[in-house]
Amino acid sequence: MKANLVLLPGDGIGPEITAEAKRVLENVASRFGHEFTFSSHQIGGIAIDSCGDPLPAETIDACKASDAVLLGAVGGPKWDDPSAKTRPEVGLLKIRKELGLFANLRPIRLFDELVDASPLKREIIEGTDILFFRELTGGIYFGDSGRSGSGAGETAFQSMAYSVMEVERIVRLAAKAAQQRDNRLTSVDKANVLEPSRLWRQTAARVMAEEFPDVKFDVVLVDAMAMHLINRPRDFDVVVTGNLFGDILTDEASMLPGSLGMLPSASLGEGGPGLYEPIHGSAPDIAGKGIANPLATILAAAMLLRHSLSLADEADAIEAAVGKVLADGLRTSDLARGGKAIGTKEMSEAVLDRLA
Ligand code: NAI
Ligand code: MG
Repeated sequence: MKANLVLLPGDGIGPEITAEAKRVLENVASRFGHEFTFSSHQIGGIAIDSCGDPLPAETIDACKASDAVLLGAVGGPKWDDPSAKTRPEVGLLKIRKELGLFANLRPIRLFDELVDASPLKREIIEGTDILFFRELTGGIYFGDSGRSGSGAGETAFQSMAYSVMEVERIVRLAAKAAQQRDNRLTSVDKANVLEPSRLWRQTAARVMAEEFPDVKFDVVLVDAMAMHLINRPRDFDVVVTGNLFGDILTDEASMLPGSLGMLPSASLGEGGPGLYEPIHGSAPDIAGKGIANPLATILAAAMLLRHSLSLADEADAIEAAVGKVLADGLRTSDLARGGKAIGTKEMSEAVLDRLA
């Protein structure tokens, strides 16, 4: 197949890790007979430096015309000046909005070889493989807010709202993903207290009964879910939840594997291009040293193939190659724990080698 892919390297280690993910995508394209074209565009601090805008119009246009977007990371101390007119993160928030990306996907998968990096015991964590769908453009983060009164009586509020349409579209995406996996979906809410959660639960249950009767569906309260993630993470396959709960639960879950440098994420909308990125930031402390772990970005590239291009075999091949590299004991410094560490390029070359 032909695909037009946009790279947004961004700042810090972003250019180093996206360059390696691009090599992996090129390798997969030639191996499986696809034609991927790449174009690089600016976002974040580097875009502020060159044109004063963290998301130039040219970048937006290129992303909208693409099949999918692979992002490195944005930000760094250089742009942290509080008096600055704009910030690198503004570019990231804006591109998500421009592309209508309402679903944030975060796989929490523990590679067997890294079980010992987890803060949890092997018996509990081994085999964990969860895919979170967090609603990204609605809920309390986008609700009406304000303040009134003064002194001890000063009061602030922020309201939470969800519409049936907003719940339906993300539940459908999550249910379809479940059908490609273990066929189980868990919806997380706070329906014992919150009215938007009651609508969420009711809508999710209806969509599942009407459209996905084959998918095993259950509901869990968010406070209970916070506990289950720590004491029985293996019991979950696909999890769908609102913006606030998803923000907190995905950060909690991202600690389970014990290594930030391994975790990819994706943001999807309806139809248009998806945005794929590692969950870590621009790691300014190690930028330019050639030691950043490229695996989260390489795994984000695998998600791109799976979710935007429907190339599941190709995605599986990349994930398997990453597993082999880890099984062979290769580690970048973030994973090496004092042992022998290899650099960014050596790591991606090892992945290319195992793809062969
Ligand atoms: P960070 O994720 O960049 O770094 C945290 C720690 O993990 C650092 O010690 C870093 O060296 C290490 N690390 C991160 N990714 C790594 C990798 N691939 N390989 C090896 N080590 C890695 O988070 P931090 O330090 O809080 O933020 C740094 C900058 O990144 C800030 O400007 C922040 O705003 C930005 N940021 C950007 C994000 C994005 O673009 N999506 C997300 C989070 C932070
Ligand atoms: Mg968060």
